[in-house]
Amino acid sequence: MSNGTPAREQWGSSIGFILATAGSAVGLGNIWKFPYITGENGGGAFVIVYLLCIAVIGLPVMMCEIALGRHTQRNPVGAFLALNPRSSTLAHLFGLGMVLCGVFLLCFRNWGWGAVSLVLGALIFRFRWTLVGIMGVLAGFTILSFYSVVAGWTLGYVLKGAAGQLGFTDVAVAEQHFGEFIASPGWAVGCHFVFVLLCVLIVYKGIRSGIERWSKILMPVLFMILIVLIIRGLTLPGAVKGVQFYLSPDFSKLTGEGVLIALGHAFFSLSLGMGAIITYGSYLNKEQNIFLSTLSVVALDTLVALMAGLAMFPAVFAMGFAPDVGPGLVFQVLPAVFNQIPLGAAWATLFFVLLSVAALTSGISLLEVVTAYFVDERGYSRRQATIVFGTVIFLLGSLCALSVTGWQNMPWIERGLKAVFGTVAPSLFDVLDRLSSNWMLPLGGLFISLFVGWIWGTKKAVDEIRHGSHNFADVHLWSLLAGLKDDPSHSSDLHVVTLASLWGIFIRFISPFAVLLAFLHTIGWLRLGGE
Ligand code: PHE
Repeated sequence: MSNGTPAREQWGSSIGFILATAGSAVGLGNIWKFPYITGENGGGAFVIVYLLCIAVIGLPVMMCEIALGRHTQRNPVGAFLALNPRSSTLAHLFGLGMVLCGVFLLCFRNWGWGAVSLVLGALIFRFRWTLVGIMGVLAGFTILSFYSVVAGWTLGYVLKGAAGQLGFTDVAVAEQHFGEFIASPGWAVGCHFVFVLLCVLIVYKGIRSGIERWSKILMPVLFMILIVLIIRGLTLPGAVKGVQFYLSPDFSKLTGEGVLIALGHAFFSLSLGMGAIITYGSYLNKEQNIFLSTLSVVALDTLVALMAGLAMFPAVFAMGFAPDVGPGLVFQVLPAVFNQIPLGAAWATLFFVLLSVAALTSGISLLEVVTAYFVDERGYSRRQATIVFGTVIFLLGSLCALSVTGWQNMPWIERGLKAVFGTVAPSLFDVLDRLSSNWMLPLGGLFISLFVGWIWGTKKAVDEIRHGSHNFADVHLWSLLAGLKDDPSHSSDLHVVTLASLWGIFIRFISPFAVLLAFLHTIGWLRLGGE
């Protein structure tokens, strides 16, 4: 950031920040994924565990990200660069671990992963903690590339709904139609293009007149549509069964796996681990209350996830469809469900508008991470950054869109990956999805909490959070454990647990440990009951 540049933009109001951040959090994860993973993992029992994960891990980590952003006033790379210690034993230990791991893998002739490990080890020595920010910006590219493909499908389904083409009589027909739709290059790439274009247009306008303004319009629209759909669903005869299925806890269906799925999803759903929240936090001023804003964002995100289930399951049950169809629920079952309700086409269209709106406010936050990096660190203007990297993301996403049905269009990439890594995911879409959701976000979350808890230090982070939210840090205890013992306001005799000390303990111990478990589970190194 050079001194000659104009002052960094800031959010116009606290509600603007809250709605924009909630917009980032509320997305396909809430409306498409949460209901079906809840259905598969014990309904209400899963919801309880998810709420716990959100409160115990999601909330504290989100506060870390906002504090990092507001303190440094930078994009994720700049934020870590500004706070990166000259030397960090912890980082060097990780680097050494990766190098040893690489050598070990090479000895076993696992060339691909061995090389990845060695390169990562070298990068850790070179960049230390800044690598976490770099990974965040890369995750911005990867996630937006496949996210905008799915978001494109939802836009396409809005058009189809409006044209009355979603009137499927049963799920099999809907399934076949969806299959043909996503395999058609014109539709898939065209809709993906429109979605990326919308993101570029909004992000190009900047923080206040782009992201904040549109979040303030789109988020209320999203809530209104959700409420209308819930009322429609709940007033159908037979809807109660759906509510029972969704919300009555069945602990026998909840497994250790389910708990880790809940944790992983809490991360994705709150947009944590890749710096979207660091970036949004960097446009926040010192007067705003980080604790209460985080609480509001987390509450809104959770509320929308719960409401999305209520908008779907009652209708699914009322119309006599099976609820446990997994990922196909939204594009395959719902159109058939709506078709049986009077004015079905209108309901279906409204539902896909809802999904598109949710995806758009998340998409802009992903593009903003990339944009902020190139504007802050690489001297691009906002206009150049959005156009150039919007185009890059469009191109990468188009490859994804063309590959959802498999590798037939790009056998050379498949062959290359197979030669290096031995196995390869079913499509480029899956490669990018797994790389970001299973690797980048959990690792990002793990390292963000380790960094704030042990390197930057909870004391400095609490000093940052204290601006604008005094009560958070004003009472005491466990201060030692939380790393706050030198803080003057913690020298009192009062042995009362403060929010700040609890937060410190979560960030130093509980979040890293829990995220590590979830990570080992997603990459398949940890198996817990139920399989
Ligand atoms: N939180 C978004 C969702 O639930 C996805 C997302 C992840 C957005 C990471 C930004 C960053 O769909």
